[in-house]
Amino acid sequence: MRVQGVVLAAGQGKRMRSAVPKVLHKVGGLTMVNHVCDALRAVPADQVVVVLSPQSPEVRDVLPPDVLIVWQDEPLGTGDAARRALPEIAADDVVLIVCADTPLLRSATLQDLVRRHLAATAASPSVGLSLLSAVVDDPTGYGRIIRDGAGQVVAIVEQGDLKGEQRSLREVNAGIYCLEGRILHRYLHQLQPGNSQGEYLLTDVVQLAIAGGNSVVAITAPEAEVIGVNSRDRLAVAEAIHRRRKLEDLMAAGVTVVDPAATYVDAGVSIGCDTILWPQTFILGECSIGKGCQIGPGAHLVGTRIGDRVRVQYSMVEMSEVGDDCVIGPYAHLRPNTRLGAQVSVGNYAELKNTSVGRGTKIHHHSYLGDAEVGVGVNIGAGVVTVNYDGNSKHSTAIGDGAFIGCNANLVAPIVIGERGYVACGSSLTDDVPPGALAIARARQTVIAGWVDRRFGPRQGHAGTGGSTEDKDSDLRK
Ligand code: UD1
Ligand code: CA
Repeated sequence: MRVQGVVLAAGQGKRMRSAVPKVLHKVGGLTMVNHVCDALRAVPADQVVVVLSPQSPEVRDVLPPDVLIVWQDEPLGTGDAARRALPEIAADDVVLIVCADTPLLRSATLQDLVRRHLAATAASPSVGLSLLSAVVDDPTGYGRIIRDGAGQVVAIVEQGDLKGEQRSLREVNAGIYCLEGRILHRYLHQLQPGNSQGEYLLTDVVQLAIAGGNSVVAITAPEAEVIGVNSRDRLAVAEAIHRRRKLEDLMAAGVTVVDPAATYVDAGVSIGCDTILWPQTFILGECSIGKGCQIGPGAHLVGTRIGDRVRVQYSMVEMSEVGDDCVIGPYAHLRPNTRLGAQVSVGNYAELKNTSVGRGTKIHHHSYLGDAEVGVGVNIGAGVVTVNYDGNSKHSTAIGDGAFIGCNANLVAPIVIGERGYVACGSSLTDDVPPGALAIARARQTVIAGWVDRRFGPRQGHAGTGGSTEDKDSDLRK
């Protein structure tokens, strides 16, 4: 038995009012089409076929390489979209068809749908199709499940085609189906666009199958899982549910979330046990965080790998790697491709970019390190700047193990500071510093005695230049 997944992703998504194809809108940092592809792959489906529109070829770029793509030249409806996948479907395949705008669907629910479909067909070979439905408070926009007096599914009627009492039905079609390939081959060609949308509706397969002597089984799923995102409003609803669900999964795995209402964690994030997430924390994209960390308050992490027992407070870390036992912040910014070894501390108002830092190095205050390789046990004083850009191109800086860079030093790149090199504060270095050497590059201090009195005249009532600011100002105005 082969399980074949089919994802319908070629619609226009007009109701989103977006220049971005609907299925590329993200929930929990992952596009909706990736959510459903992942759910199908986890079932596992032996193959996933995605139906795309040539009007939005960019959707292909986000898809995993192992999915098969077929094209629907014109958006003629979900039935027509499914028809594009027929050449990939064998008569005895078990086919799972999923709309690409149901990002909250879980693979466990799909597994259950397949299991129950197979059990139903084993008990009664006339069962042709099983689908997921949900009973919802507000069914607006969904197709409604129509049942007969005995509770058997007889049809699905789309919003625009509802008549009379059908409008009050609250059982909706999730757009998620399990059926044998032969049913699709038999009925998809018989669809007619005789409905208010003028489209070939996949949902009409239900009536056709019933007329052909098959029965249809609707299996109810939790409302949250079947949310179809047609508008920005539904996107926000899906996002909120996804966020809560992700935090619950993390808490179940031993992560403390101090205030779930103020913590945002994307789908692609893993976090070790006994890590504490403090409020106003955003962990976005693909991140992995180790055990026993303290993240936040005010942490903004994107696409970053963080070791164990790391502290990050009021800081931003993007596309970087942070070793065990590091301390970051408050108010630090690690820009892409920063790599910190273990026990590094990066303190107030420090900015790093494309820089590697060795174990135990301290970068405490007001500094900028860009395109640098910093060794182990280095001290970077307050206000140190790697001058990496000459207005034309970027240049690199290398700082050897155990070096000491004094406050407010400018290291004009390209430059190498040797092992245990010592840079005097306030220096602007343009040349390399050999290992173990002191480099001092600043004008010697000049002291000119009595200069102030000569310039501004002697001070009334006092000797020298002391006194309050107010007095000084009145002196200057004379
Ligand atoms: C569809 C169902 C509706 C169900 C709802 C669940 C039909 C006719 N209706 O309605 O019963 O309650 O989903 O969310 O199936 N697509 C294509 N090509 C097309 C049209 C659509 O690939 O020509 C894709 C879209 O990209 C989308 C999916 O099919 O991912 C569903 O299309 P959409 O227009 O959102 O259908 P709904 O009106 O929501
Ligand atoms: Ca939809």
